[in-house]
Amino acid sequence: MTLRTRIVSGYLAIILITGIVCTVAIHHYIKANRTYEEISKNYILINNIVNELTYRIAQRQTALQGFLLTGKTKYLMAYDENVIPVKMLLKTAGDLNEGQKIYLALFERYATLAQNWEDNIAEAEKESRRRLDSGLIGQEQYIDEITRIDGKGRPILREMKAVEERLQRMARKEVTSRSAAAAAAGGRTRNTLVAIAATTFFMSLTFGLILSNRITSALKRVVDAANVISARNLSYRIPITAKTDELDSLARSFNLMAERLQEGIRVLRESEKKYSVSVENANDGIFIVQDGKYVFCNQAFCRITGYDLDELVGMDSLHLVVPESKEMINERYFKRLDGQEVPRVTQAEFLSKEGKIKHLEISAGLIEYENRNAVLVVARDITERRDYEKRLRNLSEQIIRTQEEERKRISHELHDEIGQTLTAINLNVGLLRRQHPVGSASHPICEDIQGLVTKIVDDIHRISYNLRPYVLDNLGLVPALKWWTTEFQKRTGIKARFQAEGEVQNGFSPVEETFMFRFAQEALTNVLKHAEAANVFVSISCRSNKVKMVIQDDGKGFDAENLSSYSAGRWGMGLFGIKERALGFDGTFHIISALQKGTALIVELPCVPLEAEEKGSL
Ligand SMILES: Nc1ncnc2c1ncn2[C@@H]1O[C@H](COP(=O)(O)OP(=O)(O)O)[C@@H](O)[C@H]1O
Ligand SMILES: [Mg+2]
Repeated sequence: MTLRTRIVSGYLAIILITGIVCTVAIHHYIKANRTYEEISKNYILINNIVNELTYRIAQRQTALQGFLLTGKTKYLMAYDENVIPVKMLLKTAGDLNEGQKIYLALFERYATLAQNWEDNIAEAEKESRRRLDSGLIGQEQYIDEITRIDGKGRPILREMKAVEERLQRMARKEVTSRSAAAAAAGGRTRNTLVAIAATTFFMSLTFGLILSNRITSALKRVVDAANVISARNLSYRIPITAKTDELDSLARSFNLMAERLQEGIRVLRESEKKYSVSVENANDGIFIVQDGKYVFCNQAFCRITGYDLDELVGMDSLHLVVPESKEMINERYFKRLDGQEVPRVTQAEFLSKEGKIKHLEISAGLIEYENRNAVLVVARDITERRDYEKRLRNLSEQIIRTQEEERKRISHELHDEIGQTLTAINLNVGLLRRQHPVGSASHPICEDIQGLVTKIVDDIHRISYNLRPYVLDNLGLVPALKWWTTEFQKRTGIKARFQAEGEVQNGFSPVEETFMFRFAQEALTNVLKHAEAANVFVSISCRSNKVKMVIQDDGKGFDAENLSSYSAGRWGMGLFGIKERALGFDGTFHIISALQKGTALIVELPCVPLEAEEKGSL
């Protein structure tokens, strides 16, 4: 049975019992009331009758006496007037109901006495008077007779009086006795009502106490269990009784909750364990920064930085960052906390405890740590990788440089040595041809040879230009670019515009110039190969501290974002090589491309003053 049903039925039972007892009390009350009414009605009636009878009898006697004494008949008329009411009163008394039989006997007795007095006394007196009036007796005798008759009537009147008195006494007695009964009924009513109030009070109290005891004891069990569980004893369960009310289902739900909690915590602990094992064993440094301080670091981070865990936890997070990177790291930290977009991966230099520079590749993300925002950072030590990369770059730069030198040498040799030799051959073949007149057998052979030599000269010129345009060596980067752009337009039909701003400074080495030229070559080749463009714009701006080159086309464009997350193979050596070499010169390389809108490739190289860096040989 549910608690609600129990409460409702408990209170309904109390109301029912109260209702029954109230009905009994009301019944008593009505009975008492009715008794009071009855008594007072009887008493009033009997009192009235008795009073009336007394009055009437007295009237009649007075009227009779008056007639007898004065002889005036008007007294007799008054006498008659009283006879009828007496009779009527007696009749009324006779109509008294069953319960009043005791009075009836008295009334009957009274009636008999009255009749007797009427018949014997009143009639005898009247007879004496008649005789006096008719002169049969004298005045004296008349007085004697009347006195005698009156004397005879007196006992009757006395008895009538006694009956009256008895009637009144009885009525009084009845009133007294019945009103005691009525008072007792009233008392019973009062007692019953008091009893109801008391019973209801005690029943409600008991029921309320039982109920509250049931609720509080059940709640106490839940509270106790919650306390036990909060003291980390997760296996504790509330004992379940056989009852099926809401409090027991509360206990059952509580147990279920505790079970789920226990299970959840077990799963959480397991994953926490796995997680902490993998975090601790990770090769990458992992740390959490909160309020600008390290609040967690793994072993790898300690290894990278050379600090102990105790030293790191609580340390200002910028303490290890080199001064140049501090501002950038700080700005990103606050932006990230603020929910702003920040690149996930960045590179920064940290100072180890021994004072060594550590190159770290940092990827960071916002997390909640101990209920507050924090930044989780994975730091990969790329110091060695950077060294390798640098060495690799130097090596490839070396190769490229040698290659360029070789190209230059071959180109010069082709142009200057073989070219000139061929020119000499061509002149000689010209002479030979003139010596063999038209129509001779050897003339066409000479013509053929001259044609072949001219073609070879052209080919060698072209090959040597492709290997390394002289203009670059002879006139410098800007004119070489201008010339190449014009050539490109001629060769391909794609409208190519060139614009230069400023002159290339001394600080720009031949190696860098060559790179810039090769960049332009590669970019223009790409425009031809991939862009399907109608226009291309080559611009170079030379400032004191940097050279910037932009090659922009209006072709179909490509998804440069995806290219940047490519493998070297996918990107192809062209753009990849440019990027690598630009980085090798401490420069930058950017691709801005939009589908159907075109592509812009931008290379920026710093211009280091001559004294600072040995000028290359190319
Ligand atoms: N100007 C351009 N317009 C459209 N697509 C280009 C352009 N430049 C490069 N690409 C795209 O980028 C890819 C990589 O270029 P690149 O590294 O020079 O390699 P390759 O030219 O050998 O394909 C190209 O295959 C091409 O899809
Ligand atoms: Mg290419």
